[in-house]
Amino acid sequence: MKINLAVLPGDGIGPEIVEEALRVTEAVCTKFGHDLSYEHALVGAIAIDTVGSPYPDSTHELCMNSDAVLFGAIGSPKYDNNPSAKVRPEQGLLAMRKKLGLYANMRPVTTFPALIHKSPLRADLVKGSDFVCIRELTGGIYFGRPQGRSEDGNTAYDTCVYTREEIERIVRLAYKTAEQRRKKLTVVDKANVLCTSRLWRQIAQEIEKDYPEVETEYMFVDNAAMKLIQAPNQFDVIVTENMFGDILTDEASVITGSLGMLPSASMGIHTSVFEPIHGSYPQAAGKNIANPLATILSAALMFELAFNLTEEGKLIREAVDASMAAGIVTEDIAGNGKAYKTTEVGKWILDYINKKK
Ligand code: IPM
Ligand code: MN
Repeated sequence: MKINLAVLPGDGIGPEIVEEALRVTEAVCTKFGHDLSYEHALVGAIAIDTVGSPYPDSTHELCMNSDAVLFGAIGSPKYDNNPSAKVRPEQGLLAMRKKLGLYANMRPVTTFPALIHKSPLRADLVKGSDFVCIRELTGGIYFGRPQGRSEDGNTAYDTCVYTREEIERIVRLAYKTAEQRRKKLTVVDKANVLCTSRLWRQIAQEIEKDYPEVETEYMFVDNAAMKLIQAPNQFDVIVTENMFGDILTDEASVITGSLGMLPSASMGIHTSVFEPIHGSYPQAAGKNIANPLATILSAALMFELAFNLTEEGKLIREAVDASMAAGIVTEDIAGNGKAYKTTEVGKWILDYINKKK
């Protein structure tokens, strides 16, 4: 198969972790006889500093012309501590999501036996947790207009907007995903307060009838935040709006032990994007200590979801599991054991894949 990738490393640790995921992708392509080509492009703070825009047109064009996008992370303290900055790196990510039509963000949460002791929760609560959060990614309060400040600067507002079409397509995707899993869907909203949430719930109730095999549960977001730490293994598929999904997935990501482990896929109308769920971790940039596993696992998701190449994805997962079992891990998950460098972990996984018959 011909595979043509856009590689967007972004800021902070982005370049280091994407490099490892790209090497792994290359090795898998060689092993399975795929014809891989790729091109790098700028996004985030580095793109602002270099060309003045966090998601330059040339980057968008490359993404549109690629089969998938491998993305690192964006964000820089230079902007975080400056609320009046006119252009922000995050705008690049939001523009990319909107322009590529990436309305569905899938964040699978699985437990790694080797990591359970790192979870802030008791092992008996976490054990067996395996769910996927499907977050709506191009609507809601992130994009609703009006948004801004009053003339005197002392009032600010954001607007949460959802249309029937936006809700229907994500809820259907969630049902289809649930059908292929354990057939349970949790629709998370705040229908006791918000109008947009009441529309979500109404539409989900309509669609529910088309998927009789799937058990649907409706849950308010505050309750969901609690249940996620109280009984994470009760979830199978969660679907929710943009902002709730942002918050719940950060919470969900640490349940299994480390934020450095979780991959994500953003899919929709044009090219899909695969990226770790963690941020640019600027304190670690250039130190060769960042955990590359979330990005390497994002490459696995890319093979599976963008190209329907399940064996390729499986081999990457197997290599990642093996590296953890062998204790070849970065400092965030090393505990009392030896902490390996980003490149050492990547190299170990690469060797595993190359040696595999
Ligand atoms: C995420 C991030 C982004 C978001 C930021 C960087 C804009 O937190 O992908 O979850 O809020 O969506
Ligand atoms: Mn987030």
